[in-house]
Amino acid sequence: MSLSIRPLTESGFAGEVSGIDLTRPLDPAEVRAIDDGMDRHGVLVFHGQRFTDETQMAFSRYFGELELSSGAELSKASERRPLQREMADISNLDAAGRLRTATDRLRLTALGNRLWHSDASFRAIPAKYSLLSARIIPGEGGNTEFADMRAAYDALDGELKTEIADLVTEHSNAYSREQIGFLKSDYGAENQAKLKPVRHRLVRFDPRTGRKSLYLSAHIGAVVDWPVPEGRMLIRELTEHAVQRQFVYAHAWKQWDLVIWDNRTTMHRARRYDDLHDVRDMRRTTIRGAGVTVSQEQQAA
Ligand SMILES: [Fe+2]
Repeated sequence: MSLSIRPLTESGFAGEVSGIDLTRPLDPAEVRAIDDGMDRHGVLVFHGQRFTDETQMAFSRYFGELELSSGAELSKASERRPLQREMADISNLDAAGRLRTATDRLRLTALGNRLWHSDASFRAIPAKYSLLSARIIPGEGGNTEFADMRAAYDALDGELKTEIADLVTEHSNAYSREQIGFLKSDYGAENQAKLKPVRHRLVRFDPRTGRKSLYLSAHIGAVVDWPVPEGRMLIRELTEHAVQRQFVYAHAWKQWDLVIWDNRTTMHRARRYDDLHDVRDMRRTTIRGAGVTVSQEQQAA
């Protein structure tokens, strides 16, 4: 096995992997090396991985069960390209493969990806890894930025760590979209149940690495048992802390890059590009997490 990982930042957050072709079957030692690299770096970048949807799904399954795309859940089939349900279409293309227009509903919804978030944090069992494959990239812009939520947690002062240690937050897709002007009613009566908030711990502990991380996301709309404005201000302050430069790696995409990130220990956001004129076609697979982050009692409360 010739896989090697070079850290991309001084702190060791994010790593660039070489010496492996992910489009062919892997042996258990290679899968383990990638998992270990994820535990260490939180984000791994691979270049020159010429995936099809089939080979991307096959590779992704080494790391767990695939989630169904949430975009597919909240939109009609006629509004999207006919991809497999496990493939999230992170592109600016409509069902016919044309650029989405300025007022296209799904384009406007997707702008929410420019808020710092953790994928699928609005699910009771939130995502483990996301794997994003760059099939077509725009001429300029469209970077993805990642924030190291373990380093951000470590850098908090002791008093604040104690204060937030056992807090529980409420996450919903409706909260992140509310920040860019959508109303819950915009999603139609048939989707309201999918917008019901779920609860997660604000501080997560990973027994594999022995490290804690801040579990933040634009999908958070409340801290349980706190007045809403106070909870939202705490989340905003923690988010501003966590996305300071020293915690962030900005990825400038090349075609056929694959980037894997751990949603339990990182946040990310997309950056703008000229999406009305330039194609950006990325495909995401998402690995389901192992379980809920709060007790069943807290979840149901
Ligand atoms: Fe995302």
